[in-house]
Formats: sequence, structure tokens, C-alpha cells
Amino acid sequence: MTNPAQQTIWLKDYTPPAYLVESVSLTFALAPRATRVVSKIAFRPNPETADRSFFLHGEQLNLLSAKIDGKEVTPDVTEDGLTCPAPDAPFVWEAEVEISPETNTALEGLYMSNGMYCTQCEAEGFRKITYYPDRPDVMAPFTVRIESDLPVLLSNGNPSASGDGWAEWHDPWPKPAYLFALVAGELVNHPDRFTTKSGKDVELNIWVRPGDEGKCAYGMDALKRSMTWDEEVYGREYDLDIFNIVAVDDFNMGAMENKGLNIFNSSAVLCSPETSTDANFARIEAIIAHEYFHNWTGNRITCRDWFQLCLKEGLTVYRDQQFSRDMRGEAVHRIEEVLALRARQFREDAGPLAHPVRPESFVEINNFYTATVYEKGAEVIGMLKQLVGDEGYAKALDLYFERHDGDASTIEDWLKVFEDATGRDLTQFKRWYSQAGTPQVRVTDDYADGRYTLTLEQETQPTPGQSNKDPLVIPVAVGLLNPNGDEVQPTTVLELTEAKQSFTFEGLSSRPVPSILRGFSAPVTIQKDSDDAERTFLLAHDTDPFNKWEAGRTLAKSVLSRMVLNGETAPTSYLDALRAVARDDTLDPAFRSLALALPGGEDMAQSIFALGHCPDPDAIFRACRSLRDAIAAHLSEPLASLYDQMAIDGPFSPDAKDAGRRSLRQSALSYLTRLDGGERATALYAAADNMTEQLGALASLIANGHGQSEVQSFANQWGHDRLVMDKWFGLQISHAQPEEAVSTAEALTQRDDFDWKNPNRFRSVIGALAMNSAGFHQASGAGYAFVADWLIRMDEANPQTAARMSTAFDSWRRYDADRQGMIRDALTRIGDRPNVSRDMAEMVTRMLG
Ligand code: PHE
Ligand code: ZN
Repeated sequence: MTNPAQQTIWLKDYTPPAYLVESVSLTFALAPRATRVVSKIAFRPNPETADRSFFLHGEQLNLLSAKIDGKEVTPDVTEDGLTCPAPDAPFVWEAEVEISPETNTALEGLYMSNGMYCTQCEAEGFRKITYYPDRPDVMAPFTVRIESDLPVLLSNGNPSASGDGWAEWHDPWPKPAYLFALVAGELVNHPDRFTTKSGKDVELNIWVRPGDEGKCAYGMDALKRSMTWDEEVYGREYDLDIFNIVAVDDFNMGAMENKGLNIFNSSAVLCSPETSTDANFARIEAIIAHEYFHNWTGNRITCRDWFQLCLKEGLTVYRDQQFSRDMRGEAVHRIEEVLALRARQFREDAGPLAHPVRPESFVEINNFYTATVYEKGAEVIGMLKQLVGDEGYAKALDLYFERHDGDASTIEDWLKVFEDATGRDLTQFKRWYSQAGTPQVRVTDDYADGRYTLTLEQETQPTPGQSNKDPLVIPVAVGLLNPNGDEVQPTTVLELTEAKQSFTFEGLSSRPVPSILRGFSAPVTIQKDSDDAERTFLLAHDTDPFNKWEAGRTLAKSVLSRMVLNGETAPTSYLDALRAVARDDTLDPAFRSLALALPGGEDMAQSIFALGHCPDPDAIFRACRSLRDAIAAHLSEPLASLYDQMAIDGPFSPDAKDAGRRSLRQSALSYLTRLDGGERATALYAAADNMTEQLGALASLIANGHGQSEVQSFANQWGHDRLVMDKWFGLQISHAQPEEAVSTAEALTQRDDFDWKNPNRFRSVIGALAMNSAGFHQASGAGYAFVADWLIRMDEANPQTAARMSTAFDSWRRYDADRQGMIRDALTRIGDRPNVSRDMAEMVTRMLG
């Protein structure tokens, strides 16, 4: 791993660009292996710097000619760009390069997917298209001409002219190169229109491959709702005449916010009741909103450099979460956000890949599109909003848009608008951006003579490169209940700023039960010596829905931990408490479903490790199974009636209300299948007219060792649909018994339709195995070897997707010496190849580090 490309880039080394770009004009003559790109770029010296070195990024480009102000020049070309003497005055650069989209398997730059041309430029893909200062603080208006026989030719901005075999687009809004996009293909559209609040008429399109037209309606509806929401909640209007979305099958991520031309992984936009689950609908709604919201938070105001990635991503995730809560219910959505945060971000923060929300260095920026930058970045904004209040937040955001429209900004700019709008000093708060690791807050309490004192102590464990941690500003939302279950102190936000601090509540007639961190008011872990009786009490009585759920969750984890570590059996008190939840018809079905779900293998491994033990994935799997059996037996009667009650008559609707009913029904089914030999699931599978129920029934069958014929018939029914087949691949692995997971995955990779270069298909198999905790961590090491083999293969085609999946190994230090040894060997084997990518080499180095 002494790769010369392993060069570290530092935030502290930022320097402004020597030249700025006034305008860009590009002409593409498209051909699969010999696309010609002609660029004409007007440069001017940056008045803010004396540096006059002229450098343009460029990778894997064949330079055919270059001119400055019309005169041929011969630049000095290296692997990552070119330099050339340039005037200390405005000048025009012209170049022609040749590239080969058809052989581009990395899916970065210009590439082909099913005969269609498309681009992905974030973060540094534009340099694979032409020579350019490929950095986000260089912004310019673009004019693009596309020449091709393909019928649909799209780029950013508004269409400006077209003719036979060509089209021209003009984007008036200055943008960095990472927001450039081009699409050409045989596409059909789902059209619509939107009138903005100031009366501007906007043409909307979702472009898809022929055959997928029927899967666009929901995405279009979500887009229009997003546009309205951003006007109403943030006062942000759309700013072009047209907004295009394109669905692409081969895509490394979920979607991309290119100006006026969002490109989506087809899994993040295409849906229909027959082919998509409720979870798919919810995800599509959130991603459509996310990419649309980027038009202001990301595009109109972009990032100065890639260290500021959370400026656009943390804020845009926060905004899409607010939108989803408005669409789907605050409490349930918040619980889902926290489940995802703990599963991915807490895990990341506790391991060798821990990094601050704003990292200070990187080797490959693609490796920093992480749960920390995105999800913790959003949590930090949620905390800021609690500290300054809703009104302060609204004022600060108005100021942000007013002051920084058209800028490439920094976290300093962002915090300054909050300081200026609210008068609050955010010096200490800023540590959330620079300090990695999940803080632990230890809670003790005391009651005497009507006074209740809560003492909070914070501590953050060392993370790579950061051994000393300073106290953070932590908003801890607290409420108090009296012993009969009434709330005696409504939610109040305590501001913990010191390492240790006490807060007093007066005038209480008896010792209250505290409800701490309501609404999950900060991304921390809480440690409190509560017993199961207190948790059961909160599960029954807490008025804060998040903490009501959380009480059940901590209870389940405590029960499961004792089952794993001491061989105990599930206590009746716990089963009774869960039965009360199942029977409580005043609770929203979606909430009840979440409350009935048990922590998974990964979640329990995290908890057991936090308790100071080495997690045994097999023992965790067995304990979870035995708890499921105990719940199924103890709750069989309410679960059976829920299963009947939650059935829906009438046509399918993907709305949150019906989705909640289906989810609760599915929870009931997953327990009941352990008792009824698969009778209900078999019947549901046969009768289902929507993918949520069809797949849910199949999952219950597979998890309980049934369903062989259904697995077959599902493939016969859906073999033509890539997105549905991705689910089919994944399900068989994620629900496989631990000892069968690897062989199932292996068998699936032998199939002709295991098109591994497609990132969705790759993830549906390799990713599903990595997520089946007991299967992946089989003591034989077969899971590690299998995943390592595939990562090596993928790294040669698509480093970004391979490197992202290598995080499967990031929790390795939790496990026993044998497993650690095998994982270390697997990582070494991946990293020690002569042709290892920069992406993968960095990941392996950090994980082994
Ligand atoms: N910027 C995209 C988003 O979050 C994510 C992305 C990053 C997509 C890099 C592709 C490549 O919306
Ligand atoms: Zn984003």
C-alpha cells in the first residue's frame, strides 16, 4: 500500500484558484468509443490571488488539440492534468479531447448504461470529460451542444436550440463542474407542469427507458409536493423553465442533483404498487425531495471545497427529513431516522473510519460520502434549530440564502448567519463539526424535599487522530412523569455545555421518572442505571412518542443482552409489556409495528460490545430467534387478531396510513409464521396484489425455512424486471439461516442474470450478505473470503462502489481473535494488490490503521 496516488489533501492547505471561469461552451460529438469533446472556456485571472499558475484537471483524456486565444499551445500533460503558460489577463482556452464512454465501468464521468449516454460528475468526474479547473469554487454559466442520432438529448438549464441530430442547452446559473450533466438516449417521458408561487410555469419530465412509463407517476407527484413544500417552508422557488429527471440503471449512488437535470438510480425513482414496497415508495419520495432541495442548498449555494460537503449534504438531508416528517408523521419518521443513524453512523463513529462531520483530510473524496457527513451532519442542524428556536432558525436561513446566493461557501459562513441572525455565540457549538465520535451522556439523579436534580456528564472516546475530546454543546430534551404516569414537567431543553453539569426541578410532590433525550434531541448515547421496571413504565406512559418507543427498544436490548450473555430466558414482564402495546388500539399502527420490531444482529453486536463484551454473532442470532418464539407464543392471540384487523379492502394506496397498517400486519405475520407452519404467509403470497405483501410474505416464508416453490414462482413472474429481481436476490440472502447465507449467495452469483457490474445487483448479493450479521461472520471465515473476492473483482471495474462496500469490515475490532485474524487477512489481500484503486487503498489503510 505504498501507492504513489495515496496523496493526502488537507483542509488547511486550501488556496483560491489562480484563474476564474467566465463562461464555458462544450460540444459533444457522441460515439461509444470515440466521443469528441470540444471545449471553449473564457478564463480571467482571479483578482484575489497573485498566483498565476495555470493548471487544468484531466484524467484518462486523449488531448487532440489545445489553443490559447486562437494560437496552438503544447501543454505539459500528466496523469491528473495539464499545465501551460497562460496570460496574466483574460483569455480563451480551446481544446478537443477524445473519450470512451462505452468502456467506462467506473460510472464516473461520461458513461453508457443500456445504450444510453449519461454522466456522473460529483465529486471529481468532470475531469474525465474534459480539461477543466474541476473544483467547486470555480463557477460558470455553461452552454452545451450535443450531436447524436439518439432522439433525446439533454443537458443542464433551458433548451436553447435544436435541429436534426443536435440540441443545444444553456444554463444561466453559474455552477461548478460537478453539477454538469448530459444524457442522450432512446427515452420516453412522463410529463407534467408546475406553476411556482410567483406564477412561473415550469415544464417537468421524468425520462425513462421504454417500458418504464408506468412507473413514474409517484415520483412526479413527490416532485410537485417537494416544490410546493420548499416554497411554503423555506420560501424557495424553482429558477429554470424546465426540470428534468432521468432514470438510469447503472448508478453508483441514489441520485444526483445536477442543475435542472437530476439523474437517478432507477431504484430511487421508478415505482408502482405491483413492483415496489412501501419502503421503496418512502425512499423514493425522500430522494426526489432531497435532490430537488439541492437546487438551493447545494446548487445556488455550493461548497467552497469538498471538506465543506456537509454544508450541502447535512442541510439537504435535514430538509428532506423535515419534508418526510410532514408527509408521513413526525414520530414514526423520527424513529426511522434514528434507527438508520444508529445502524450506520454510530457504527462508523465507533470504529476505525470515524471522522468529523467536516473532515480535515482525505485521500479520495468519494470515500467521504458517509453517514457521518450526511446523517450526523443533519443531526447537527437539528440541534442548532433547537438551540436558536424555530424563529431563529427561519431568520438564519433567510439570511443564508440572501447573503450567500451564488457563492461557494464554508461552514464558517453557515455558522456566521446563525450568529448574526440570533446573536448567539456558536464557538463551542462548532466543535460538532470538528470532533469525531459519538458522545456518551451519563445520567444520575437525586430527589429530596420536592427538588429533583439531574446530573449529566459527557464523554467522547478517542477516535483515529483525535485523542483528546472537548465538551460539546448538547441539547438534552427532558420531561418528568410522576409515578402514576402523569407528566409533571413538559418537555424542556437542557443545554449541557460542561463535562459535568446539574439541573434542578423544584416543587415536585414525589420522585419523578425522567424521560431523557426526548425526540432524540442530540446524536449521543445515554447511560443511566435504569432497571427494566422503569423502562416498562416509560413504554406504557411516556407522552413523547420517540421516548416511548425508545423505552421499548432499550428494554428489548437489555432482555436480549441477558439472554446472550447469561443464557436467561425472556421475562414475562417484558412479554406482558409488549402484549399491551400490541393490544393498544389508540396507538398508530406504524408506531406499533416499530415497537414490535426487535433489534437486529448488528444492533445487538454494537450493544454487547458497548457493554464490554465480545459479540458472538451466532449466539446473538439464537437469542433473537428464541425471543421471537417467546413473543410469538405469548402474543399469539393479539397478533392473530391484528393480522386480520389490519387487512385493507379496496385499492392500493402508498400513503403513510395504509403503509402503516401493512407494516403492522407484516410484523404480526413474521411472528405468526413461527407458529402456523407458514399457512398465513403462503395464503398471503398467493393472494397479494402488491409488492409490499408479496415480498413480506415471501420473507416470512424464507426466514422460517419454507417458500421454495414461491422463490421459484417469484423469479418466473418477475424475471423481466431488474428492480424486482434485485429484491429477489437480496431477500434470499438476508433471510437465510446463518450457515446457509454464504452458499446461497455463492449460488446466486452463478446465475446468468447476476450482472455484477451493475451496482444495484452487486449490492443485492454482496451487500445483503454483509448485512446478514450471523451469516457474514460465520466462524469458518467463508463470508469474509466471499466478500473479499468480490470486492477485489469490483475494485478493478468500479472502485467507488467497491470501496463503499468494504465498510462491511469496519467493525472488525469488536470480534474475537480468530475472526479478527481472518478479517485482517481479507483486508490485507484486498489492499496489497499492485492495481488496487486509490479509493480502496485508502479504505483498507484506515480500517487496518
Ligand atoms: N450529491 C448526491 C446526493 O447526495 C450524492 C452523490 C454523490 C451522487 C456522488 C453521486 C456521486 O444527493
Ligand atoms: Zn445530497
